[in-house]
Amino acid sequence: MALHGSLSGSTIREQFIHFFTQQHAHLYKPSANLIPSNPTVLLTPAGMLPFVPVFLGIEPPPNPPRVVSHQKCARVSGKASDLNHVGRTPRHHTFFEMLGNFSFGDYFKKEVIGYAWTFITEVLAIPVDRLWVTVYHDDTETMTLWQQVAGVPVNRIIKRGKKDNFWGPPGPTGPCGPCSEIFYDRGGLPERSPEQDADLLDTDRFVEIWNLVFMELFQDDQGKTSPLDNKNVDTGMGLERIAMVVQGKDNTFETDLFYPIIDQLARTAKVTYKQNPQTDIALKILADHLRCAVFAIADGIVPSNDGRGYIIRMIIRRAVRYGKKYLKFNEPFLYQFVSTVRDMYQDPYGELKEKYAAIVETLKLEEQRFFETLERGSKLLDELIANAAEKKWITGEDAFKLYDTFGFPLELTEDIAAEEGFQVDTAGFEKAMAAQREKSRSARGKGKAIVQDQLYSKLFEQFGATQFTGYDGLYGKGTILALIVDDETVQSVSGVNQPFQAILDATPFYGESGGQVGDIGSFSVGSGHLGQTVVVNNTTKVGDLIIHHCLYDQGDGLTVGDAVEAQVEPIARHQAAIHHTSTHLLQAALKKHLSESISQAGSHVSADGARFDFTFNRGLTRDEVNRVEHQINRWIQQGYPRTVELLDFEAAKTSGALLMAGENYGEKVRVVTYGDATKELCGGTHVDSLGEIALVKLTSESAVASGIRRIELVSGDLAYRHFKQLEAQCRSVAEQLGVSVPETVTRVEKLQADIKTQEKTIKKLEERFVLLDVNQLKAALEANTAASKQPVLIQQVTGYDANGLKLLAQKLAEAVASHVVVLASDFGGKALFVASVSPDYIQQGIKAGDLVKAMAAICGGGGGGKPTMAQAGGKEPSKLPEALKLINEQIVHQLAR
Ligand code: SER
Repeated sequence: MALHGSLSGSTIREQFIHFFTQQHAHLYKPSANLIPSNPTVLLTPAGMLPFVPVFLGIEPPPNPPRVVSHQKCARVSGKASDLNHVGRTPRHHTFFEMLGNFSFGDYFKKEVIGYAWTFITEVLAIPVDRLWVTVYHDDTETMTLWQQVAGVPVNRIIKRGKKDNFWGPPGPTGPCGPCSEIFYDRGGLPERSPEQDADLLDTDRFVEIWNLVFMELFQDDQGKTSPLDNKNVDTGMGLERIAMVVQGKDNTFETDLFYPIIDQLARTAKVTYKQNPQTDIALKILADHLRCAVFAIADGIVPSNDGRGYIIRMIIRRAVRYGKKYLKFNEPFLYQFVSTVRDMYQDPYGELKEKYAAIVETLKLEEQRFFETLERGSKLLDELIANAAEKKWITGEDAFKLYDTFGFPLELTEDIAAEEGFQVDTAGFEKAMAAQREKSRSARGKGKAIVQDQLYSKLFEQFGATQFTGYDGLYGKGTILALIVDDETVQSVSGVNQPFQAILDATPFYGESGGQVGDIGSFSVGSGHLGQTVVVNNTTKVGDLIIHHCLYDQGDGLTVGDAVEAQVEPIARHQAAIHHTSTHLLQAALKKHLSESISQAGSHVSADGARFDFTFNRGLTRDEVNRVEHQINRWIQQGYPRTVELLDFEAAKTSGALLMAGENYGEKVRVVTYGDATKELCGGTHVDSLGEIALVKLTSESAVASGIRRIELVSGDLAYRHFKQLEAQCRSVAEQLGVSVPETVTRVEKLQADIKTQEKTIKKLEERFVLLDVNQLKAALEANTAASKQPVLIQQVTGYDANGLKLLAQKLAEAVASHVVVLASDFGGKALFVASVSPDYIQQGIKAGDLVKAMAAICGGGGGGKPTMAQAGGKEPSKLPEALKLINEQIVHQLAR
């Protein structure tokens, strides 16, 4: 039954926004990036995430304090992962859009119930008799409000416990509260009702369409809750699910938010949707994973082996495996469908259009990479499955081998194993992974990282963002808000060389972020403590919290609440700024001279140089590197001054400013521009005018991973020194050649020609020596023939390498038509032999190949060859006499038969 067949997914989205902005005075907020600024989760899992600081009272609410949004969400990892349900239920996805309205201490239960009910029953015209609601079991207020405000009969209101009707926090800590959900009954199945059996709501007969959360609590890392200052509202309605209900479809994949992708995939794979349950599941998984990957890449996530990059890699590889196995795609294919997703979603998600080329390129490369090992990995997995038919168990080491050697994410191995009724030892996998990490010492202890993250989120919740004052000056005053020693907050620190971390309310120190290293410098503590100093070794940033990593130097101690004078070390900062601005110029030059589709994949900027990673599927030619370098230096010579604007994110995007991949943007963004050379969204520190950079030298260009290139550069004085070093090397070469620097090239060319001539001469001489030896050996052969009536010569010669030995045998064979010749040489620590047998003796059963093989066996080696001529070698030259004796006996014996 289509309730409102004419309402497309986009129309529902538009009507939702319209309803809340026009009829209920909400502020519209476009979707935030899938990469959250909140450090407790990897990907944005819910519409409320961007508003966590507001719920917690750290950031002021907007004006008016009520917002409506449609948020890009992903639930692929962690406690809320829906991965295994995708394609198998009518309503789960890895990526989805959440429509939501929020109140920050403004309206509460009564209003939100009224808004929600009006929207679904009047705007979307969903029949009331199909709707059920749930409430938190002791929330009688909400129970009453549903009856009074919406007229829902009491027998349609189901009480449920904490598992179902309490939402949040979104990560380990954060805002949460009891909730109330609206369900739609798709009808059909059992005659029972949720009144008799509340669990029925979790079956496919019902769809949960809207969750209204009364955000009034905060949960800490111990699981304890405390009231928030405000009573807030957070609601979430999955767009795909509501579209399924409104459009009367059996599952979300048949709505217009998915079906065009399914249709095109099916046509390309030459299968028909709804004919085979297995291909249907594959089509749904592919459509889902493709959509997720496209949005994630557009938001700056690059497939990798860590964090959110790993999640996206896993999603893509899982899709590739399903595509190959069930739809018979045998080469990269997903990338061809990016345009379908773009066309469906570019309004309102303009990033899909802007990043289109980069998305296609990233996806294609990731697919190519995986297709290269998929076959071999699948074969190994098939073998493992065949060999463990009884135990039905894949060991952790094997799962790790599949991951490490063949790029099979663990989830993929689990999928394939499950298809065969097998289980995977995931604990063993983690162990093998941990052992490897330990070996490469690449990772910080995971436990430590978690403890630190929790500590920082707590401090952030307590104090909010640190105010950064270091764009305009390197000196500033601040107050100590927190001191940390060994991951614990302390009231004071003292003692020479005591390491600790400090958080101030305001600081000129730049915390490592956006690829730029953190500042170093010092603190001195205000009046009365003259001479008391602290060395700041590094500064980092977690979310918006700036953390100074310090070493206590001298004085009476430092206490929370102390006023501090903070001084950044100016030379290191200026050098970092020079290199940071250089990477902006580099990115602009790469886009101008190579391809607009290049996008940043990472960077590292310090006082010692910069490296810049970007998506590009091949190495650069020398000429391309030169052009890019020349362009950068031309811009520097033009000396453009820096302009910085604080713009609304949308305005910044429209102005054409480059977005940094992986960076998360708030509402106001900083746009750094140098004339018409570069315009980029960036929170880093930069030179006042390009002239300060003076010079940039690109020092290397290399591959980091498939599809990702890296350029390293040095600027300013370091670039000058780089050239001076090259000059010194040139001079030293010239001196050794005894010419001036400009003459070195001609001189080297001449030397190379001389070497070639000399090599030729040496070769000729060698041949002459061989001829002399051939004459002697020929005489010995003839003497043997005269004595034994057989033209057999078995002899060790000296000074011959393998090539010389072969030449010697050939010449001898040419000189004596009928022969059996075996020559050996002890050369370079090895036993070498060659045999030549003329056709008349081959007929008598003597074969050169057999002869050398037998000798090699004695001398610890191998080799063989044709019956006429064969060569071999061994590691034990001391055994040569024994081998020659044996071969002699063998030949004599054979010829006597
Ligand atoms: N945070 C709630 C959810 O994700 C409502 O938006 O379901």
